Amino acid sequence: MSVESLKCKECKAEYELGATYFCERCFGPLEIGYDHSDLDAAAAKRRIQAGSRGIWRYADFLPFTGRPADPLEPGLTPLLKADRLAERLGVAAEIWIKNDAANPTHSFKDRVVAVAIAKAQELGFTTVACASTGNLANAVAAHAAAAGLDSYVFVPANLEEQKLLATGVYGTNLVGVRGNYDDVNRLCTQLAETHPWAFVNVNLRPYYAEGSKTLAFETVEQLGWKLPDRVVSPIASGSLFTKLGRGFQEWIDLGLVEGGQPTFNGAQATGCSPVATAFAEGWDVCKPQKPDTIAKSLAIGDPADGPYAVEHARKTGGGIDAVTDQEIREAIKLLAETTGIFTETAGGVTIGVLRKLAERGKLAAGERVVAYITGEGLKTLDATRDTFSMHEIDPSLDSFDAEFAQEVSV
Ligand SMILES: Cc1ncc(COP(=O)(O)O)c(C=O)c1O
Ligand SMILES: [Zn+2]
Repeated sequence: MSVESLKCKECKAEYELGATYFCERCFGPLEIGYDHSDLDAAAAKRRIQAGSRGIWRYADFLPFTGRPADPLEPGLTPLLKADRLAERLGVAAEIWIKNDAANPTHSFKDRVVAVAIAKAQELGFTTVACASTGNLANAVAAHAAAAGLDSYVFVPANLEEQKLLATGVYGTNLVGVRGNYDDVNRLCTQLAETHPWAFVNVNLRPYYAEGSKTLAFETVEQLGWKLPDRVVSPIASGSLFTKLGRGFQEWIDLGLVEGGQPTFNGAQATGCSPVATAFAEGWDVCKPQKPDTIAKSLAIGDPADGPYAVEHARKTGGGIDAVTDQEIREAIKLLAETTGIFTETAGGVTIGVLRKLAERGKLAAGERVVAYITGEGLKTLDATRDTFSMHEIDPSLDSFDAEFAQEVSV
C-alpha cells in the first residue's frame, strides 16, 4: 500500500502531499489518493487483528507509511446491541449503538485529531489549531498536550460551559470568538494563510477527514466482518457521514468485506439543517443557515461537505432528516433509559432520527442498523435539565415511606 498524492475530488488533479486542502484549478476539496494495488486482503486482515487496540490497527488505510507515535490512541469503542431500545421503538430490526463517547476526550473527534496531529508532526509543525463547535476543541487541546505541541483552539464564545472547561484544562490557547461557527471558520481560514500553523480541519483537512473512516472499519470488524444494512449518523460539516461511506467502500473494493454500501441516514437539528433541507428540496448544494439549536456541536450553517453528504444519502437509498430541540431532549433520555448510554445533543439528534425512521416503518425486521453516538452527555448537561425530577426527603424511614407510599410494595 502506498499513499500517492492529494487528489481533487472534483477534477482529479493531483498534488504533492502537504498542508494544502483545495484544488488550485477548480477550488474543489482535496482528498488522499492511495494505491492499494499490491494489497492482499487476507494479510491485511491478519495485520489488523494483530494490531493495536485502537485506530492504528487500520494504519494500512490511513495516510502514513507506519504507525505514528500516539500516546492517546483513540478507537475500538463499544458496539452494543440495543434490544430494549428496539423494543421501545417497536421495531424488529437489530439496533446497534456504536458508543464513540468512549474515546479519550469523549467524542469521535479524537479519531480525526489523532490522524491530523500525527501528520502535523510528520510535516514539521510545532503549533496546531482548529475551528471547532466544541468537541474538536477538546480533542485538539488534549492531543496537542499529549504530543507536546502548542495549540490554539477557536470556538464560538457562547459554547456550553462544560466544553469550554474540558478544553481550557489542557493548557491550550482557548479563543472564544464572538460569532457562530461559520464566523470562526472564516477567521481560521484567514489565519491559516498568515500563520505557520497546522489547522487540523482547514489546511490539514484531507488527513483529518481520513480519521472518520476508522469508525466504518471498526463497525465491520465488530459485526464479525459484516456490513451493516443501514447506518444513522449525525451531520455537521458532512465529513463524518461521507467518510463513513468511503471507509465501507474501500473495504468492499479491496475484498475485506462482502456486500454493498449500507443505506445512509443523516441526522441534523431543525435549528441548523442546511443538509437535510437540501435533501428534502432535491438540491445539489446547501443553502447556508443561521444556526439556532441546542445541538451546538452540529451547528454548522455552511457545511463544506454538505453536497457530498446529500449525494451519498441519495445514492444509497437513504435520507437526511431533522429533529426539533424537544425531540433531541426526548431521544437523549430514550437512549439513556434503554441502553445506559448518556449522549450529548448530537447523539440526541441521531436517536431522534432513528425514532422517526422507526415511526415511518423504515426499519425492517432483521435489518442490521448501526446508530453512531459521537459524543458524551456530560458535555451538554443543560439538555437534560427538567426532563426528570429528584425525590427530596428527610433522612428518616418515615420520610422515605411517605414519599414512596404508592410506589414501594414490601
Ligand atoms: C459530537 C459530534 N458529532 C458529529 C459531528 C459531525 O461532524 P462532521 O463535521 O464531520 O459532520 C460533530 C462535529 O463537530 C460532533 O461534535
Ligand atoms: Zn480540481
